[in-house]
Amino acid sequence: MLTDEKSKVIPLRVGMTTHRVPDPGVLVIFGATGDLTHRKLMPALFDLFCDGKLPQGFSVVGFARREKSNEQFRGEMRAAADEFARNKPGDSDRWDEFSQGLYYHRAEFHESQGYASLGELLKQIDAARGTRGNRLFYLATAPEYYALIVQQLGAADLCKSSGWTRVIVEKPFGRDLASAHELNMQLLPTFNEPQIYRIDHYLGKETVQNVMAFRFGNTIFEPIWNRNYIDHVQITAAESVGVEDRGGYYDKAGALRDMVQSHLLQLVSLTAMEPPVSFDSNAVHDEKVKVLRAIRPFTPERIERDIVRGQYGRGKSMLGYREEPRVDPNSSTETYVALKLNIDNWRWAGVPFCVRTGKRLQKRFTEIAIQFRAVPHPLFAREALQTVNPNALALRIQPDEGIHLRFAAKRPGQTTELREVKMDFYYKTAFGSAPGEAYETLLIDAMRGDSTLFNRKDEVEIAWSLITPVLEYWANAPAPNFPNYAAGAWGPEAADTFLQSEGREWRAA
Ligand code: BG6
Repeated sequence: MLTDEKSKVIPLRVGMTTHRVPDPGVLVIFGATGDLTHRKLMPALFDLFCDGKLPQGFSVVGFARREKSNEQFRGEMRAAADEFARNKPGDSDRWDEFSQGLYYHRAEFHESQGYASLGELLKQIDAARGTRGNRLFYLATAPEYYALIVQQLGAADLCKSSGWTRVIVEKPFGRDLASAHELNMQLLPTFNEPQIYRIDHYLGKETVQNVMAFRFGNTIFEPIWNRNYIDHVQITAAESVGVEDRGGYYDKAGALRDMVQSHLLQLVSLTAMEPPVSFDSNAVHDEKVKVLRAIRPFTPERIERDIVRGQYGRGKSMLGYREEPRVDPNSSTETYVALKLNIDNWRWAGVPFCVRTGKRLQKRFTEIAIQFRAVPHPLFAREALQTVNPNALALRIQPDEGIHLRFAAKRPGQTTELREVKMDFYYKTAFGSAPGEAYETLLIDAMRGDSTLFNRKDEVEIAWSLITPVLEYWANAPAPNFPNYAAGAWGPEAADTFLQSEGREWRAA
């Protein structure tokens, strides 16, 4: 039986170890010397291994351009796991066992010879470790190599084998509608749609998956989940970090591409979707796509009125964005964006979805907040009601993952005065541990052939079709007056006034 540190039984954890181990296979990571492999992929794989979730014989081939031996690669991966994994390689002999399945393959992305020799290596691994021709290719390089690698995989016939073959495509998937569509077209001659796994790591977060469980696994929320009861929805993804060492990438992307097109539109569609007929991947995608299609397109007038962008300047012992490494000192790239979305369908007509995200904000927090309408008739003293806000339900994605409901309660004593109180659920207390890393979930799902938590072709393109007119409008508009918020503040003032003008305000962290 599972217990916490104090050896108490945690009833909600009972049965949590149930999981289906995927078939044995080889994961080939293109760009294996990069940051993503170090920070996310290898630590996630090692943690999965330690938790007994990887199949027997599971192997990894790191494909990259730098000269390196298997031993050097294993040493670097060990250091990565040491720094970023939950389980530390030094704590047991598990690392030795895991690292026997790690191989390094040096090759140039454009040279067909490197793919032919990769094919040979994969056959040897199949024979030595029983991986049965099952292959998962992971595109973790800079995006400009994706099409080339896939084309080379096709030319070397590596997209077919005696087992299953799949490809995971890392974000960003394109930089606008045209490039995303082009990339889809470049993948499709080599891989069929069911073989393509377009990643959005937010979907692997336990709390994001829980949005569906919360809505459709309970009876009491769905009847009020609509325009009759909900005033508006607020979705916030606030980061306290700046662009870190990704200035080169970020300066060409900006917050709208980097966060809104992917993660935040995913949160919007999960919050707004109709119940799918099943948890079958296509059934879920169909409902999410319907939401994206129902979002009102941005016209120039709406861009001016319903979108606020910002860029951080210097803050207390923090650099301004334009001073960050590899950022243009005159950059007009937005590090903050707030926007109002309207979903034109029966359920959501008239209910704005207010979405904001930014870097170098005061605090890191991501949440979906459902703001309910005020009570229709003020039964309690007007002064009393003024002290309480209407009900709100916050799904806290991170940190302190949980769910919180705000409601009014009568203050004890001979009074009709009301006070705001909260009901709180925390994953960590209820289940005895904080939710696991998104990449662990997504890697296992891809190995198992479950694409529910990945993006479908039409989903990515519709999300881009919503964002692209805004990017184009901004590209031709006069340069904004940046910076317009200090690092460590809550974003530009204009983002507050644009909600205040409707009598609403952003929730505090
Ligand atoms: C990535 C973005 O997709 O998500 C980053 O490129 C951002 O800029 C990150 O910092 C946020 O992810 P998380 O899991 O830390 O919320």
